[in-house]
Amino acid sequence: MEKINIIGAGLAGLSAAITLAEGGYESNLISLQYSERAQSVLAEGGINAALDTMGEGDTVNEHYEDTMKGGGMLANPVAVRRLTKNAPDTVLWLKSLGVPFYQENGTIILRNFGGQKKKRTAYAKSSTGKVIMNALIDGARKYEKKGLIRRYPHHEFIKLLLSKPADGQKICRGVQIKDRYSDSILKLYGIVILASGGMNGVFPGMTTGTTQNSGEVTATIFAQGVALSNLEMLQYHPTTIGISGKRCLVTEAARGEGGRLYVVRNGRPWYFMEEKYPVLKNLMPRDIVSREMYLTVREKECEQQVYLDMTGLKDKVWEHKLSDLRNEILYYRKLDPKNTPIPVEPGIHYFMGGIHTDEYHRTNIDGVYAAGECTSLYHGANRLGGNSMLGAVYGGKTAAMHIMKNAEEKGHDFAEKTKEESMESYRAESMESLGEESMEAPAEASEEFVSALGNILYDGLGIVRNEGRLKFAMGKVSQLEAACHNDREKNRILLAKAMLNSAIIRKESRGAHYREDYPDRQDEYYRKITLARYEEQQLEVDFVQIQGDPGISSE
Ligand code: FUM
Repeated sequence: MEKINIIGAGLAGLSAAITLAEGGYESNLISLQYSERAQSVLAEGGINAALDTMGEGDTVNEHYEDTMKGGGMLANPVAVRRLTKNAPDTVLWLKSLGVPFYQENGTIILRNFGGQKKKRTAYAKSSTGKVIMNALIDGARKYEKKGLIRRYPHHEFIKLLLSKPADGQKICRGVQIKDRYSDSILKLYGIVILASGGMNGVFPGMTTGTTQNSGEVTATIFAQGVALSNLEMLQYHPTTIGISGKRCLVTEAARGEGGRLYVVRNGRPWYFMEEKYPVLKNLMPRDIVSREMYLTVREKECEQQVYLDMTGLKDKVWEHKLSDLRNEILYYRKLDPKNTPIPVEPGIHYFMGGIHTDEYHRTNIDGVYAAGECTSLYHGANRLGGNSMLGAVYGGKTAAMHIMKNAEEKGHDFAEKTKEESMESYRAESMESLGEESMEAPAEASEEFVSALGNILYDGLGIVRNEGRLKFAMGKVSQLEAACHNDREKNRILLAKAMLNSAIIRKESRGAHYREDYPDRQDEYYRKITLARYEEQQLEVDFVQIQGDPGISSE
C-alpha cells in the first residue's frame, strides 16, 4: 500500500502517524513547521476522560451528556459516544507513551473544567499540550528511525490530487506539496489525512492560536469539493489577554482551580457569574461565560473591563498547578496574578466547524480523511474545555485505524497496486476529467487582503450577531471579491461566504452562535447542522439532519 499522507504534524497528525506505524503502515508527515512548533504545544489546561479517580462517581455517560448538551446537540452522537467511551484508554495510552500527567501516589489527579460538574481533566500544570506533544514526538521518532514515518517539515500543502472516474464521484489519489526552502514541488500518492488545525489565519491577530494554521488548507480543499459543516460556530474563550499582535490564552484551569470573574459595578467588584449561575458559576460553558462578559460590561452601572481574580488561590495551587500561567502573565503583562486581578477579554480560541466527516473521520471524498481542529464532528455548537486534545488524539487514531481496517478487509487489494500503476491511472483520469495540471505553486494571498477579510468577518461573526451585521459583512466580502488577485484569495472569499451564509441561515441562538434578533433556540433547527458545499462552481449552504439517536433530551 502507498504511504498515507498526513497534512499537519500536531496532535492529530502525530497520533495518526504513530497509530499507523504501530500497525506496520508507513506515512508521510507533512507540515509547514516542525511538530515542536505546532499549535498543539500551546494547549494548556488538560484533556478530559471519565477516569473517576477523584471519588466523585464520574461516568462515561456523564462525559457524553456534558459534551452533547454543551455542544447544543449539534455534535455527531455516534462519534461522541465513541470519543467519551475511549477517552480513559486514550489518556492511558498517552501516559504509556510517557506523558507526565500530574499524579499523587501513582493516581492521575483530575481538575475542574468548564461545563462539567465532575473533575474530569487530566493535566500537567498549564502546559499539558506541550508535554503530550513531547511524548508523541518522541514516539514518532522511534518509528521514523524504522522508516515507518517520514517527516516533511517546511512543506506546504498545495492541493489534493483528485480524479473523477466515469461514475462522477471524485477520488483522491494523493497530494501536491511544495518545499518552502527549495521551492520544489512534489506529488505524493496515497490516502490523505488532513490534520491542519484551526482556521486562525482567517482572523489574523484575533485568535489564541498560531496563524501558521492559516486556514489555507481548509479554503483549498473546500474549493476542491470537500464539504464543511457548522462554520458559524466560532468559540470565544472568555479569558484572553492581548500580547504582541495576538490573543494569549489564560487557561480555564485558572477558574477550575478557583479563579473568579468580576466587573466593577457602582465602585465594587461584582462577581456576576456567581450571582447569575449559582451552580457552575465561573465554570459555565465558554459560550455562556463569553456572552455574559460581553453583555455585563454593557450594563449601565458597570465599568467596561472584566477582571479575573486569582488572588484567593493557595500557594500550593500556584506551585503545583498554575506556575506556568503565573510566569506567563508576569512575563507578558508584568502583573503577578497571585496578588493582582488580571484584566481579560474574550478572544477567538477554537473552530467547532470545519471539515465534515463521519465517525470514522472520512470526508465526502473517497481517500480523504480529516482529524483534529480542522474537522467538525465532536463539538457541535460549543466545545467543552479539555475535549479538544481528546478529539485530536482520538480523531487521529480513529482515522488511522479505519484506514488499516479497510486495507485489511480489502485483502491489501490496493496494496498490491504498484505506485507506478496508480500514478498512471491517476494521470489518465485527470487528463480526461480535470485537464492537465500545473506544477507551479499558486501565488500567496496578500497580507492586506487577508487582514481586510479577517476584519470584515470579525465584525460580522462576533459574540453577538444579527442579520444586519451579517449581511453587511457579506456585502463587504463581495466588494473585496472584485479585488481578488489569485486563486488563494478567491478560495478565502469562498470560505468567508460559506461562514457568513451559515450564520445568516441559522435564525436562532445555539451555543456559540448568538443572534440578538433570534435570541432563543428554535425547534426547527434542533439537531440540524449547516453543511457547506462547493460543486460545479456553485456555493450551497443547507441544513442537514444529524443521524443517530442521541439518547438524551437537549436540556
Ligand atoms: O483554557 C484552556 O486551557 C483551554 C483548553 C481547551 O481549549 O481545551
